Amino acid sequence: MCVMLLIFFCLYRDTKNKFMADKKIVPSNIKWQKVDDWILDKIKDEPSFYHTSMPSLSNTENSDKLDYQVFIEEASRNMIRFKKPEHLIRMIVKTIDEHVKTSHTAMLIYSKRKNSFLLVDSKGVEGNKIPTGFIKLKTDNPLVRFFNERINYVISPSGSLDYSRLLEMSKKEMYDENKYLHMTLLEMVPQVIKQMELLKANICIPIYYKKSVLGVLILGRKVSGQEFNRQEISLFTTLANDVAMALSNAQLIQDLHEKIMEVHTLYEREHNMFIHTAISLAATIDARDPYTHGHTERVTQYALSIADELEELPEAKQYQNFKETLHISALLHDVGKIGVPDSILNKPASLTKEEYEKVKEHPITGATILYPIKQLSGVAAEVRAHHERYDGVGYPDGLKGEAIPFIARIISVADTYDAITSDRPYRQRKMAEVAVQIIKDNSGTQFDPIIVSAFLLAYRKKIRAHHRIH
Ligand SMILES: [Fe+2]
Repeated sequence: MCVMLLIFFCLYRDTKNKFMADKKIVPSNIKWQKVDDWILDKIKDEPSFYHTSMPSLSNTENSDKLDYQVFIEEASRNMIRFKKPEHLIRMIVKTIDEHVKTSHTAMLIYSKRKNSFLLVDSKGVEGNKIPTGFIKLKTDNPLVRFFNERINYVISPSGSLDYSRLLEMSKKEMYDENKYLHMTLLEMVPQVIKQMELLKANICIPIYYKKSVLGVLILGRKVSGQEFNRQEISLFTTLANDVAMALSNAQLIQDLHEKIMEVHTLYEREHNMFIHTAISLAATIDARDPYTHGHTERVTQYALSIADELEELPEAKQYQNFKETLHISALLHDVGKIGVPDSILNKPASLTKEEYEKVKEHPITGATILYPIKQLSGVAAEVRAHHERYDGVGYPDGLKGEAIPFIARIISVADTYDAITSDRPYRQRKMAEVAVQIIKDNSGTQFDPIIVSAFLLAYRKKIRAHHRIH
């Protein structure tokens, strides 16, 4: 019995292959799948089926299995390797074309921008003639609807569509035999068949990610005339899943990139607005005192030059955005002078003790103005401390050493350098070299020695030249 079945199987296989090789078309009038299933069911329990008594079949199966295993492993490796999913798609289409040898292999991928499925790659004798992007399926296309509504799973557990099986289903007798089939399915099958004919597809494999159809893998007929077997369909489904994963990963990366760009643009816009607001405020303060005109702008430039030498220090890295905080703090360091009367600010003589006490209020006034403003509250502490001294005898809080905010210590040096090198109503400016010497002499007492060192470097690189120009 077993031997007879095996002989029958071999004859059947050869006849089927010969028929398909001769016709080289999609078989429509022979229910090969049903015959296949029947024979396989009859002989599956026979121990000799995979035995060496049928070396050709056994070897073919083993070697196929081995190749497919390598194929899948290679595809998985490539999925990780390729950053762009299009490259993975091209590799898969090319590999199927070369190994399986089909009339054409192609892939349609959903384009969000065009709300359609576009042909992204096509290979094979017939596939090479189809230009990329030439085929476009709208989302209401019957084939796409079939996959979207999961009707394909009613026909095939793997979700793949086989042209010959659909053709069989479309026949009247099949309708009669399958009364349980939903009307939507029965109405759509002929439309899907038409779509597959237009695509010259023998097999269509959907590419799903979660609930969405991302694409469709299309396979023409095999050049050998044989049908695709279950192992091959399973392999193609695995590859389709790899493509889905690569596409969804690429989409996630793209979405993340767009979000970052969006935040960056908003941040840039907001940042520019802050800087302009701070510049306007600083200009208003400067305008009140003709003697100190341009003071804020120069202090800001000096402070930024000093900061260039310090940005690698841990103290600088404690700030979320060191340079920006310093920039805004420097622009607004004297904003509290808004509370100092003009009579004191523009007095062409030395200040009395009371007047000086009034001027000394400006760091607190400045911090009081800035602190309630959400976007500027971060610079309030810097503004409040810009007249503190490293030895602890400054004002308004008598902070000492590291207790003084780092940016405030920088502004203190920049502010002093500009004050010495600028005219005042009650005294003339001093030479830059004199100012540098005064700052050096006060390193460790009035100023943080690290900031003084950075100032000396910045002075040689930028400040000296800036000073000469102005
Ligand atoms: Fe000040």
